[in-house]
Amino acid sequence: MATLEIKNLHVSVADEEANQPKEILKGVNLLMRTGEIHAIMGPNGTGKSTLSETIMGQPAYQVTQGDILLDGESILEMPVDERARRGLFLAMQYPAEIQGVTNAEFLRAAMNARRTEANQIGVMEFLTTLDHNLALLNMDEAMIERYLNEGFSGGEKKRNEILQLLMIKPAFALLDEIDSGLDIDALQVVSKGVNSLRGDQFGALIITHYQRLLKYIVPDVVHIMMDGRIVKTGGAELAKQLENEGYAGLRDEFNLSVDLMDEN
Ligand SMILES: Nc1ncnc2c1ncn2[C@@H]1O[C@H](COP(=O)(O)OP(=O)(O)OP(=O)(O)O)[C@@H](O)[C@H]1O
Ligand SMILES: [Mg+2]
Repeated sequence: MATLEIKNLHVSVADEEANQPKEILKGVNLLMRTGEIHAIMGPNGTGKSTLSETIMGQPAYQVTQGDILLDGESILEMPVDERARRGLFLAMQYPAEIQGVTNAEFLRAAMNARRTEANQIGVMEFLTTLDHNLALLNMDEAMIERYLNEGFSGGEKKRNEILQLLMIKPAFALLDEIDSGLDIDALQVVSKGVNSLRGDQFGALIITHYQRLLKYIVPDVVHIMMDGRIVKTGGAELAKQLENEGYAGLRDEFNLSVDLMDEN
């Protein structure tokens, strides 16, 4: 079993207008184990993507306090590629386009990065795994010879993130709004992909706004993030409650400001 632990995490970004850093995460605590699926829900702008980008090591996000531990070891000083090598994976809310690198080249390099020098993946094994996963995701083979995400539709990008996930098989996947912009069929396909990885070698943190994704990928734990903190943690029923009641009750409960309510 692997663990990913977020301890009292405070994160700031440079705020050019104010000419001083702006604090986004204000003390986040979270413990995940492989074998578990966690979901994070919360209003726009509360820091969900900031959390996932910070865990992955995006340099724009500055950790000012707290720690991120993978199997008990701090990863704060590690660059993104080292974090990926150790088993972290981020499906971004807005996947980037990479010119000049085909999807297939990217996938093979990413898979090999997780393996030792002596155990690099062979062509046949790569193609067999790829065929299997393309079929699982109902994806067109032509997609893999295209440059990464270049000209992909929104839904194609999301589906492609899941293809990467299935090929790379990380220990922990951070899935940021993997359901946004998906049609009903794609939502089911993407969910099938994530569910196929479920097991004691895999954990996921799913960021979503909607209960509908969590109908297909039933989470073990649901966290509500508001104003840079996790304010409530519960089981799958918490997502249903939220869908019915919205965030208003929680704001009252946690005395969050009226400004924040207006923003969202
Ligand atoms: N690189 C950045 N530079 C400046 N501000 C940032 C940066 N990244 C995030 N922020 C700010 O931090 C806050 C939290 O943003 P974040 O993207 O983490 O929210 P979110 O919870 O993912 O929202 P959404 O549900 O809309 O995706 C926002 O006010 C955003 O403008
Ligand atoms: Mg976001």
